[in-house]
Parts: sequence; structure tokens; C-alpha cells
Amino acid sequence: MSGVNEIRSTFLDYFSGRGHTPVSSSSLVPKNDPTLMFTNAGMVQFKNVFTGVEKRPYTRATTAQKCVRAGGKHNDLDNVGYTARHHTFFEMLGNFSFGDYFKAEAIDLAWTLITKEFGLSPERLLVTVYADDDEAATLWKKIAGFEDGRIIRIGTSDNFWQMGDTGPCGPCSEIFIDQGPALQGGPPGSPDEDGDRFLEFWNLVFMQYEQVEPGRRLALPRPSIDTGMGLERMAAILQGVTSNYDTDLFRALIDAVAHAVGRPPEPATVASYRVIADHLRACSFLIADGVLPGNEGRGYVLRRIMRRAMRHAELLGAREPMMFRLVPTLVREMGRAYPELVRAESLIAETMRLEETRFRRTLERGLAILEAETSGLSAGQNLSGETAFTLYDTYGFPLDLTQDALKARGIGVDTDAFSTAMERQRKAARAAWTGSGEAATETVWFGIRERVGATEFLGYETEEAEGIATACLREGAEVEALEAGTSGLVLFNQTPFYAESGGQVGDTGTISAAGLKARVTATEKKLGDLFVHHVSVDEGRLAAGQAAELTVDHTRRAAIRANHSATHLLHEALRQVLGDHVAQKGSLVSPERLRFDISHPKPIEEAELRRVEDIANAVLLQNAPVVTKLMAVDEAIESGARALFGEKYGDEVRVVSMGRPVDASGAEIEHGRLPSFSVELCGGTHAVRTGDIGVISILGDSAVAAGVRRIEAMTADAARRHRAEESRTLQSIAGLLKAPVADAPERLAGLIEDRRRLERELSDVRRKLAMGGGAGGEDAPREVAGIKLMARVVEGVEMRDLKSLADEGKTRLGSGIVAIVGVGADGKAGLVVGVTEDLTGRYDAVALVRAGAGHLGGKGGGGRRDMAQAGGPEGGGAQAALDAIVQALEGTA
Ligand code: ALA
Repeated sequence: MSGVNEIRSTFLDYFSGRGHTPVSSSSLVPKNDPTLMFTNAGMVQFKNVFTGVEKRPYTRATTAQKCVRAGGKHNDLDNVGYTARHHTFFEMLGNFSFGDYFKAEAIDLAWTLITKEFGLSPERLLVTVYADDDEAATLWKKIAGFEDGRIIRIGTSDNFWQMGDTGPCGPCSEIFIDQGPALQGGPPGSPDEDGDRFLEFWNLVFMQYEQVEPGRRLALPRPSIDTGMGLERMAAILQGVTSNYDTDLFRALIDAVAHAVGRPPEPATVASYRVIADHLRACSFLIADGVLPGNEGRGYVLRRIMRRAMRHAELLGAREPMMFRLVPTLVREMGRAYPELVRAESLIAETMRLEETRFRRTLERGLAILEAETSGLSAGQNLSGETAFTLYDTYGFPLDLTQDALKARGIGVDTDAFSTAMERQRKAARAAWTGSGEAATETVWFGIRERVGATEFLGYETEEAEGIATACLREGAEVEALEAGTSGLVLFNQTPFYAESGGQVGDTGTISAAGLKARVTATEKKLGDLFVHHVSVDEGRLAAGQAAELTVDHTRRAAIRANHSATHLLHEALRQVLGDHVAQKGSLVSPERLRFDISHPKPIEEAELRRVEDIANAVLLQNAPVVTKLMAVDEAIESGARALFGEKYGDEVRVVSMGRPVDASGAEIEHGRLPSFSVELCGGTHAVRTGDIGVISILGDSAVAAGVRRIEAMTADAARRHRAEESRTLQSIAGLLKAPVADAPERLAGLIEDRRRLERELSDVRRKLAMGGGAGGEDAPREVAGIKLMARVVEGVEMRDLKSLADEGKTRLGSGIVAIVGVGADGKAGLVVGVTEDLTGRYDAVALVRAGAGHLGGKGGGGRRDMAQAGGPEGGGAQAALDAIVQALEGTA
């Protein structure tokens, strides 16, 4: 008997031995397809290769692809657990030809594999072909030797593969096995084809077309092949069991469930074991691919699947969270084929434990309500939509969980009334918001929000993804498209662009599609979950409904991520150095630098800043992974995670941890205050490891408000460039000083001291020169109207020194009047008049200054009777000013 793991390897080895390149499974979150919720087939990652848009170095490939069908076009959720075949998660084995071989070789390869390698007896096999596909029918006759009766023609959509509403597609040929008359059911196309007897296990798709929009199909550049074999079904066939749930892999999972709930499956309860085993796989693989439970989009589908499993665990009598206990078994069974499962093991277990803990709190109350509300109902009746809505809204029961809980009793739910209640609540939320007085112009977003729903943010996982434009706006109003040369706002159903929030700036980047080139210059958030891209279209037009490739500017985002993680490290280092009063008061994380404000009552000393920088860099050098978890907000805060100022948190938060605890010297210690050096609630994007930050360099601290200090810092290459620039400046300073860099400060301090001394000396000399007078007789005091007058024009003396010159003059004269005009290098003049004490009864310095000021182009002047001053722009009038003063003296006499 072949186990699931061997069957997978046999398949992949078979095709790689025949020229096919083995390619790893792609993520369950399709990066290249915005129309799909989850990867639902092996061909999804090759979608653009089929259409010719993307080139790969091979034309044949083989994969084992993780698939989820639980939401959107291929939705199997409701049946899962109750049939032998349905799964939310399954593995699809496939071989692909991209314009290489077509029908003949595809059929030949398939036939050889199943009859020779897998040893299926040809008598038990039969196939379908599309109604008009004579070529395929002929090939089956030739290759398999089938009679007409074993080649069934089917012309419905069942026999035509389409991945979604658009994308590559083509007619199928499906291979069936007859499991014998012990099972109910007829061959494909017969009225009882849904029975289990005839089992389809491999679908060969002859890819010929591309559905570009509903109703319009183009031929592919070259016909291609896409096949999908359900690994679980093949395992059941090869292991001789009639239910996928009886294969080795599922038996191991179901045993683990039995162990966890403490009792083995019985016919009445077996469906619950199957639901749990199936959902365990879907949830674990989704979490490993970055999806976390939430209330929108993929996160909500995951939550529904998790809660459905948890509800069944409860039915089996589990009173404590148990799903997380199953994770090790799953990792043991599937971790070798999918290493991402091993890497994410603890994240998966934690996320499950949290979700189940929370769900249990509300489950009991919800079930009691359900019980009370339905006690009077019998099979065929409906639970009221209002009650279903209350369960949904207040107790977190997804609608399908309520439906599932009532299924066994044959009771339905009034889903129309449920939708009406939901709609009413939306309207109320909208009215409450508009009533809050926030800019009414923003109301346009409400209509958009209701029509297109929340934007799904993919940017934690990827910086490139396809999105479908859901709305375009210009000047505040919706438009059909943005034309070349114009700018506006565009929303997409999903985006890798981070919208400005939590201090982190929004992303920029590009948008492209055939004939379209546009730039994203900023990204912001509206109504909490609409991501609004500011777009300038350079070429072509960007219209609502169009799919485009969204690419974040990677270099810029990398710098932002480094700065954001550095902010967390600095925040914790500051608390360690300055004390627990330090709380973040706001921050800005941009690509160039980071800035954040903390509560701290005084300037941060140089030595403290250096210690902060040393600790933060010591943790950086640990190169520890930056770990993000989703937690309930109260639990996160209880665990010591720091909540940031100004952030609004939902009931669930991302908790970002990094680094191992260190002491004041930056050395690692066994037990810190927290399990990691830094643990913060944060919705931002971060470095993968602390080492990616490169280096943290604090530029300085300043005051922004009373008790609030601002720290600025740089990281990585920006820090390196900044420091290199500084170092070059320092070198050139040292060069000018003719000293080694290390001696430059002392040398410079000496020069500054010298300069001060020289200035003082120069000033003294000038004063002496000014007052001591040259030899010229004009400098000597003269007699005017019987008193001694010293009248001078001086240059090179600071204006502020004029008064002390006048004082000195007064002392020299003993009794008399001093008038000095100082002319500065800029041509402006200052005038000072001093009158010795004995003469102030007769002469007023203020009046004399005013007599002269007019000649300097100045107005007025002021001071006291013994000393007054004035100034003016016209130094050329200096002598005239002095003459006017002499005249005034003579007049006064
Ligand atoms: N894409 C095809 C399918 O999923 C093979 O059935």
C-alpha cells in the first residue's frame, strides 16, 4: 500500500523523469490573481504563463499544489465532513505543458502513469470528453483501447475548466474509476452520477482559450495542458478505501482528534472528526501562508473554518481548546513536503489556541440562545434572521455555523431577514459616523465602502500583487477612469501598498498593465479599511474594473521597515536607560529617518543617548527574527506588549516582538522583563530580522513641548551615508587645522580662544587710537562758547563702544562736552554726545544729539542730559553732524 507521501513523490518523480521541471507549490494566497480568494488549482501560479504574459525557463512543469476551496467560485465548505470526498484543503497533483505537448501526449502520459506506475486495472477506468471533442475521443480509443461506451461525452460546464470568471480555460477530459456495484451511483452524465461508485480522480484540461471578460474568449497563443489529480482521492483508490478520510494521512489526524477529545469516532459522531481533521489542514496551511483570522476577506473565511471546527470539537465534548494540540501531528505528516508548515508551527498553534479560547467564551451563551430560540421549531422550519444576526453580531457566530448547528435537526435560517438586519446595521453605522461631525466631504467614501468592501492588505507578505481597480476618483468625485496625464485616487480590491498609519508613511510605487503605466505617489486610509492610492497616470488609462500589477517601491519600503523596527528597539532602550515613565507620544517612520516623541521631563544627556544607542545596536546585532502574532488586545497588553499613543486598536491586534533581553551594557541575559527585548502592538511593516536594520544612529534630541522630547535617528544605508558625509566634513576641518581628526576639537577650541583674545586686543587698540588721537590739531579739544568740546569722527569702533569712548572723553576733559560720530564698515553712523555733570544745567545732550542726527539721515535720538545717542544710515554726513552740534552749542551760549 502506498502512503500519501509516497504517492505524491511517485507522481512528481514520474513527470520530472519525463522532462517536467518540479516547481514548489505556490502560496494559498494567490499573488498574481486578484479575482481569486484562494489558490484553488495547480494552474493558478501559471495563469500568466498560459496566456503568454509571463515567460519561464521551462515549457513543462509538475507540482503538488496546496488548494483551498472555501469561498468564491469553488466553495465546498458546507459539504465538508458529511461526504467521502469534500475538503476545504486538498492537494492537487498536476503536470503542465506551456505550448509544448498537447492532447495526445497528455493522454498518453496520464494513461501510462495510472496503469503502469499506479497499477490501476484498465477495466475499471472510463473517461469523459467534451461533447464535441472528437480528437480526444479518438485519442482515448487509440491509447487506452477504450470502446465508445467508456468515453462519455459531456457538454456542460462540468466538463469545461474555468479557474474563475476570467483567465485561461478549456475543455476537460476527466478520468473516472468504477469502485464496484457495492456503492451507489451511476457513470458521469447519468441521473445518479453524484453517487460514490464512479469516482473522478484526474482532470486533464486542454487549455485553449482565455476568458477575458464574461462572454468574451480569446484563443491562447499556443494550446497547452493543465491537469489536476486529487491526491486524497488517488490515495483512497490505491489504499482500497472508499472515503478519503480513511486514508493513512486522515487516519493519523482523526486518531489525534480522538486522543484530544478522549473518545474514538462512532457512526453518529464521525462527521465531526472529519470536519476537524479537514479544517485543521486548511487553517494550518492558511496561517502558514500569512492569513490570520479576521472579520474581512480571507481572514474571515479562515475564522469561519476555524470556528466550524471548534464547534465540532465542542460537540465531541471538548471543554478546553484542543485544535492547537493537533498541530504537531499535522506537521509530522505533511511537514516534509511543505516546510512552511514546520516554520510556522508555533504561530499556527498560538493562533488556534487564541481563537479557540475566545470562541469558547461566547459559544456557550450563543448555543444557549440558539437552543431557546429553536426549542419550539421542528424540521423544515426556519430560525428567525434577527436571531441569527444577533448570534453573528454579538456572539461571533458566522451564519454558516448557525446553519451547521441546526442542520442535524433539519431546521433552516431565514437568510433574507439576516441580510436585512445586516444592512440595517450598516446604515446605522454610517449615520453615526456622519453625525460625528467629521468632514462631510468624506461621505463619498461610505458609498464606496458599501459597494466595494474593505481593501484587503497583502503588504505584510508581499510587495507585489495584482489588484482589480474598484473605484477611481478625481477631485472628490467618482469617475469611470483616470486618463493619461491626470492624477486622482484609486482603490483596488487588494493591495500590497501600506497606507499611512501608526506613524509609518504610506508606500509609493508603480501600477502597470498592458498599455498602462502609472505611479503611486502616496497611500492613505479612509474609514479605517479603505486603502486609497494617489495615482498619476503616465500612459494609457486606468479604469474601474481593470486588473493591474501593483508594485511597491522595494528600496523605499525596505528603508521604512528598518526604521520602523529601529523605533521599537529605541523605544525599549530609552525605557531601560531613562526609566518606566517613558511613553511614546507620537512617531514618524519615513524612508529617510525616524523620529519619535517620548514623555521625559528634561533634556536627555549625551551619555544617556549614547547608552540608548549602544543597547539598541546590541540587540540589532543579535540578528534575531522579528516575530508577528495576532492576539486579543487585552491579552496582548496583559502579556506586557506596549500599546502606542494615538492608535485605535480593534479587539485583535498584531503584536510585534524582536530581540532577546539584554542588561544595561547590552549583554544578553536569561530573563528580562519580557520574553523578548521589545514587544509592541503594531500594525506597521517590519524588518525580517533585526540585523536587516544595519545600524541605528541617533542624530539628537530636542524639545517639542513641555515634558516631551523628540529623538531623531537614522538606520541602515541612510545612516551610513549620513555618517560618511559627516566624516568627510570632519576630515576637511582637520585638514584645514593641519591636525589629526582626534586633535581637531582641541585645536579648534584653541583657535577660538585666540580669536577672542585678538578681538579684545584689537578693540582696545582701536579705542586707544580713536581717543588718543593722532598728531593732528583737529583732534585736540577746542573751546566753543567758552567750554571745552571734543568732537570726533571715528571708524572701526563698534557702535556699542561709542558710549564708553564718550565716557572716557568726559573724564579726560574734566569739564566739557564730547561728541563722537562712529562710522561703521557698512556706512551707517552712530552719534553719541556726553555732557560733564557740571554743565548739564546749561546743556542737554539729548538736544545736541538731535541737532546732529538729521545729517546722518536719522530721526530723533534719546538718552539723558549727560549722555544721549542717535544713529542714521548716512555715515557721509558725519562731519556735518558735528558742525551742526557746534552751531547748536554756539546758539545756546
Ligand atoms: N485546473 C484543473 C482542475 O482544477 C485541472 O480541475
